[in-house]
Amino acid sequence: MQKRADNNGNKVYFLFYVCVVGWFAKPSHTKTETHEDFSKNLKEFLDEMQTNQIREHLRKFTRLPHLAGTEQNLKYAEQIKKEWLEFGLDSVSLVPYDVLLSYPNKSQPNYISICDDLGNEVFNTSLAEPIPQGYEDVSNIVPPYSAFSAKGQPQGDLVYVNYGRTEDFFQLEREMGINVTGKIVIVRYGKIFRGNKVKNAMLAGAKGIIMFSDPADYWAADVEPYPDGWNLPGGGAQRGNVLNLNGAGDPLTPGYPAKEYTYRFSLDEGVGLPKIPVHPIGFHDAIHLLKNMGGRIPPNNWKGALNVSYRIGPGFTDDFKSQKVRMNIHTNNQVTRIYNVIGKIRGALEPDRYVILGGHRDAWVFGGIDPMSGAAVLHETARSAGSLLKKGWRPRRTIIFASWDAEEFGLLGSTEWAEDNARLLQERAVAYINADSAIEGGFVSSLSPFFLFRVFVQIASPEEGEEGLSLYESWHKRDNWTEDRDAPRISKLGSGSDFEAYFIRLGIAAGRARYTKNRKTERYSSYPVYHSVYETFEIVERFYDPSFRRLRAVAQVRGGLIFMLADSKLLPLDVNEYADSLGKYAQSIAEVAQKHPEQMELYKVSFDSLFSAVQNFSAAARDFYARLQTLHTEDPLQLRVVNDQLMYLERAFIDPLGLPGRPFYRHVIFAPSSHNKYAGESFPGIYDALFDIENSADPEKAWQEVKRQISIAAFMVHAAAMTLTPPA
Ligand SMILES: *[C@@H]1O[C@H](CO)[C@@H](O)[C@H](O)[C@H]1NC(C)=O
Ligand SMILES: *[C@@H]1O[C@H](CO)[C@@H](O)[C@H](O)[C@H]1NC(C)=O
Ligand SMILES: *[C@@H]1O[C@H](CO)[C@@H](O)[C@H](O)[C@H]1NC(C)=O
Ligand SMILES: *[C@@H]1O[C@H](CO)[C@@H](O)[C@H](O)[C@H]1NC(C)=O
Ligand SMILES: *[C@@H]1O[C@H](CO)[C@@H](O)[C@H](O)[C@H]1NC(C)=O
Ligand SMILES: *[C@@H]1O[C@H](CO)[C@@H](O)[C@H](O)[C@H]1NC(C)=O
Ligand SMILES: [Zn+2]
Repeated sequence: MQKRADNNGNKVYFLFYVCVVGWFAKPSHTKTETHEDFSKNLKEFLDEMQTNQIREHLRKFTRLPHLAGTEQNLKYAEQIKKEWLEFGLDSVSLVPYDVLLSYPNKSQPNYISICDDLGNEVFNTSLAEPIPQGYEDVSNIVPPYSAFSAKGQPQGDLVYVNYGRTEDFFQLEREMGINVTGKIVIVRYGKIFRGNKVKNAMLAGAKGIIMFSDPADYWAADVEPYPDGWNLPGGGAQRGNVLNLNGAGDPLTPGYPAKEYTYRFSLDEGVGLPKIPVHPIGFHDAIHLLKNMGGRIPPNNWKGALNVSYRIGPGFTDDFKSQKVRMNIHTNNQVTRIYNVIGKIRGALEPDRYVILGGHRDAWVFGGIDPMSGAAVLHETARSAGSLLKKGWRPRRTIIFASWDAEEFGLLGSTEWAEDNARLLQERAVAYINADSAIEGGFVSSLSPFFLFRVFVQIASPEEGEEGLSLYESWHKRDNWTEDRDAPRISKLGSGSDFEAYFIRLGIAAGRARYTKNRKTERYSSYPVYHSVYETFEIVERFYDPSFRRLRAVAQVRGGLIFMLADSKLLPLDVNEYADSLGKYAQSIAEVAQKHPEQMELYKVSFDSLFSAVQNFSAAARDFYARLQTLHTEDPLQLRVVNDQLMYLERAFIDPLGLPGRPFYRHVIFAPSSHNKYAGESFPGIYDALFDIENSADPEKAWQEVKRQISIAAFMVHAAAMTLTPPA
């Protein structure tokens, strides 16, 4: 990690990039592109992207709050449409859906209070964040809230449950013997997706949940709070949805696009809506709720960085025993129109093959980092593609640019469009590249099973003092994944952004790439001002990327991936790499099971079928690769045959029945973790069957389910291998 002092003496940490991918084609694996124009055009495409343009895009799309469903977000959609047409895209349209959104009631604000024994509210949490300088006159800044919270005014004793993870609740219930039924839980933000915290609190019987940002998780060392630095001020709080959609999209129209005529479930039947009130607060307010708590002393790893004891409760110490906490939540769910912007560049030779670059536009407030750092990058990619078009270039395949709406409300815009176009996409989509925040420090960033590695070699490092190094070298230097190869680290795709429906529901190869923090040295969760009013243009310009060179590098990576996918004759996907990954995933899931040798023997549980399937896949991949070497790339039919095999390989991992209890998570190799939507799990069916199996009430049945899941995985991998065999 590099550290330096800027002119104000405020320490700035450089972010790290971790760009993640799967089929990770080493340069030697993909046949070199023969037509010389390809390299020339790619270079021109990358060189056209400019830092001052990206700066301007970010500036203009972060002036005003643009929450999903608001007039301002529609205005930005119209502006993007207009500009994409000016850039030279062949067609651009606004595609509306009517989805369930959630807003606070302007005349009845949400807050949490401490009540004395007469019911007087002797302390109230703040109704809004202190507005940053320069934005005092801006209206329509939505106060911090938990979107889709249930309404209600529960009152009771607090119980502190650390991060509210599955393991935290296990510890609370099993080791400390505390029952939260009828209590209000308070948890710190971080480690896992907030919706999972809410689900855990509901399962434990809590009647409300409060989430706060602890400096232990939202402060980087030696950094000032915004505006003097990029830490979260004590009055700042993290907005966010608290759904557990499991990929359903709009809660009222699961599986189908939310059009005007679409049948809607009632709110009671909606997917993933929490049944209890939920509310986020900053740490200035959290201190008041925590400081008088009684009950037992917490384990050390439950303690944050506030000057309070972090006692577990329930309730306050004897002196304050009669005081209770009350939540006052009046947030409303409301069906609201949203707009995706869809822009297209028609492919010259294979117009029926689609490469998609999509990212969201809606923001909680200004969206300086999330998502506009990504949207500015997407905009610049579209501009550069348009400029190449004007010079006569046209990609081999069709490129689709998407500016999604309502991502913050559960990936709604992208999921509805995926549902609307599922048949076309199943038949025609080659790959999906995601374009959310470009420079967040974050949940581990990830790219799915495919890769276009060569692009990193062609991009210059944006870091000062690294002139002459490629982005690849700069990345590798910082994130050397040396376990089994001398290469940067590549993570599995989790969820929490718009690629989800494309990859995990439809089986379209997908990827994401961005800058993030150094996981080894930075302990804070996501980035400190995440989803607060302090995500402004200025925080990017002053602290994260003053030269806008990092954003340009991200534009070049995302754009370069799209270019290579759209314009390479042979799709740059590497089946051998997929085979290697499958081998590792199979090995590691077997190791999880092998922690229970007696049970495995007793119930005759074996992974032999899965290993056999992986072997068959590896063999098929090797043969496929060998055949590629003799491929006549000038023969369009031969080329199309192998490209189709590559394109449909990811589709082969889709089980139409879905994972147990999660019908929209259908990829047998990858799913978001059941305990943290942000993290990816491999062989999720087997993993979930094994989870906490030692405490199962019915071990026989539980191990039978493990066996069933192993057989499903084995069949799916073998069946996928068959799609790589010669056509006849
Ligand atoms: C918002 O609160 C006001 C004042 O209590 C109430 O009259 C109104 O019905 C609420 N709006 C909604 C949509 O619930
Ligand atoms: C908290 O808000 C309630 C409702 O507006 C008000 O009656 C009460 O006086 C407030 N308490 C404090 C300490 O400000
Ligand atoms: C927790 O308390 C509730 C109500 O008091 C009770 O119904 C439930 O069984 C208790 N749970 C456990 C695990 O003891
Ligand atoms: C921490 O809180 C205690 C008790 O309220 C107070 O006496 C002490 O001065 C505080 N320490 C700091 C560093 O603020
Ligand atoms: C990565 O680590 C390996 C093993 O420690 C080392 O040989 C290699 O030089 C490192 N690569 C880079 C780019 O630092
Ligand atoms: C792997 O291939 C062999 C030979 O074709 C076959 O006998 C075996 O059943 C396959 N494995 C699986 C899991 O289908
Ligand atoms: Zn985002």
